Amino acid sequence: MLERMSQLEAEADAALSAVEDAAALEAFRIEYLGSKGKLKAAMAWLKDASKEDKPKLGAGLNVLKQKIEGAFEEKKAALGDAKPHAAKGPAIDVTEPGLPPRTGRVHVLTQVINELVEVFARMGFDVERGPEIEDDHHNFVALNIPPHHPARDPNDNFYIDDTHLLRTQTSTVQIRVMEKTEPPVRIVSLGRVYRPDTHDATHSSMFHQIEGLYVDKDVSMVDLKTTLLQFAHAMFGPEAEVRLRPSYFPFTEPSAELDIKMQVRGVYDWVEIGGCGMVDPAVFEAVGYDPEVWTGFAFGLGIERVAMRRYGIEDIRWLYENDVRFLRQF
Ligand code: DAH
Repeated sequence: MLERMSQLEAEADAALSAVEDAAALEAFRIEYLGSKGKLKAAMAWLKDASKEDKPKLGAGLNVLKQKIEGAFEEKKAALGDAKPHAAKGPAIDVTEPGLPPRTGRVHVLTQVINELVEVFARMGFDVERGPEIEDDHHNFVALNIPPHHPARDPNDNFYIDDTHLLRTQTSTVQIRVMEKTEPPVRIVSLGRVYRPDTHDATHSSMFHQIEGLYVDKDVSMVDLKTTLLQFAHAMFGPEAEVRLRPSYFPFTEPSAELDIKMQVRGVYDWVEIGGCGMVDPAVFEAVGYDPEVWTGFAFGLGIERVAMRRYGIEDIRWLYENDVRFLRQF
């Protein structure tokens, strides 16, 4: 008898787990729990049971009835939760396009730096690096800036000791490269420079420059202007123009300011981007190049200026604040 009871239990279990919709559940209810159902029929076993078996069997059948009813209610609740016409299949639609994962991105200044490296690499310029802590010799002396020149004023430089300072310009790298290489030379150097300027929308005490140096025989202003025009077209579009305005730098002769005519916020106008010129013979002498044989041009441009003009960024400080709402735009 007890065996038949556990058989019935297993049978009911299997039948209930096969139920997948309301109709099947109702069929189950009628078959097992209905007034002519299998549980009712099982109650009749009690009549034929022996005296000793009767109490056990009775109790067992009651427990079984509760079990089947409980499982039935559970199933009913589970089916009731399902939407009447819900599609069969996994709850996640694997054919939907995924959500893009949140990733970091390259800082806008780094993007511009990478682009500059590529533009000048296409013209045959190698990349060189120099230290940010410089000595007097590379920041001033070899660049033809004499001891009492106003550029050396302690108020205009971050001195570390009497002869060392945070470099104020990447022109220092020109000297370092020429000291260790024989001409011809064709390099750019990109990096940080430091000046004790008061911070405002266009000034920062740390910013970036790109320095260019080209040394060979018979280099002329035309080579300089052509190189800068290529750069302007690559960075600001084919309609950009280049203008050299006479100026003065101790390490170039003649010297010029570089202006680029470009579209900034809908207006097409001249924008000052940096300085340039033909390498001064005194600089060649300082590094041991024969000025009678070698000629060259050099330029130094503000990278922030390039980035700001190109993207219409109005405040240099935004480049250093690391506000992702700003940085995400690039
Ligand atoms: N070093 C200059 C500055 O920081 C920029 C510059 C001007 C660099 C003329 C050059 C150059 O190489 O030829 O303002």
